Amino acid sequence: STGLPKGVAKMKSLLSILDIKNEIDEILELAKQFKESKVKDKPLEGKSLAMIFQKSSTRTRVSFEVGMYELGGNSLFLSANELQMGRGEPIADTAKVLSRYVDGIMIRAVNHQDVVEFAEEADVPLISGLTDLEHPCQVLADMQTVKEYKGNFDGKFTYVGDGNNVCNSLLLICACLGMDISIATPKGYEPNKEIIAEGEKIAKSTGSNILITDDVKLAVKDSDIVYTDVWVSMGDEGQEEKRRNDLIKYQVNKELMELAHPDAIFMHCLPAIRGEEVSAEVIDGPQSVILEQAENRLHAQKAVLYYLLH
Ligand code: CP
Ligand code: NVA
Repeated sequence: STGLPKGVAKMKSLLSILDIKNEIDEILELAKQFKESKVKDKPLEGKSLAMIFQKSSTRTRVSFEVGMYELGGNSLFLSANELQMGRGEPIADTAKVLSRYVDGIMIRAVNHQDVVEFAEEADVPLISGLTDLEHPCQVLADMQTVKEYKGNFDGKFTYVGDGNNVCNSLLLICACLGMDISIATPKGYEPNKEIIAEGEKIAKSTGSNILITDDVKLAVKDSDIVYTDVWVSMGDEGQEEKRRNDLIKYQVNKELMELAHPDAIFMHCLPAIRGEEVSAEVIDGPQSVILEQAENRLHAQKAVLYYLLH
């Protein structure tokens, strides 16, 4: 036996956590198997993944590339500027042409809507490696990490800071898994309105509790997980000063962490800026699990790649 789940791929593409809302547990279980090296065969032998990057990346690029290699497949790093798309070739033509060569496409894009259009035009599965709206692969790895440290999703998850792409996906995945999530952002930095509405709809059936507040102390009180992300995301350049001023009270530091449970873990998707969204003492301290989180990108994405491309 190969140790891999049988059956056909259930997902067509992964642009949003909503695309896999009923398959999250199964993906996390497979990710765990990959991490424990229970899967040694090469299920994606002969398959290729194109990876288009419109923005910088360390973790996403390397974990997808190594993940494809470990599954027996091949990957191609394509910088968007160097593709003809960067000179104005239509998304539709790019998507259709790439579909003739490769078995799947990963894209990190500026605009979520462009990725939706890309997926509509492509004939192969599409995976989002981050857009302005969501970062689904990140939060799968995050939930794998939560499961490892906490054993289940019964605790209180708290996100502090900018209600950005990572925050949107965290809200959705917590809602799907029935995990309570508190989100503390300043006014004007809340998560996307449609995502909140979707999350609340799902939360009703899973029993998850979603709290969105500007009261950072209330949000962090009695938390089991405290998560933050940068104040200035890729694409927010030019708003640095305003964002730093608006978010200053939302730094995750020792004083704030003391409101959480003593065994709470600290999480960050990285890259991080010490002294801004998090103090060095916290991110480099004993509660921080950032490296496990980064490692889990590899395992979680291998699970996604397996489901989409095998
Ligand atoms: N967390 C994350 O997606 O990192 P990269 O931008 O380095 O890929
Ligand atoms: N919110 C950050 C995440 C980086 C992985 C950004 O979009 O830049």
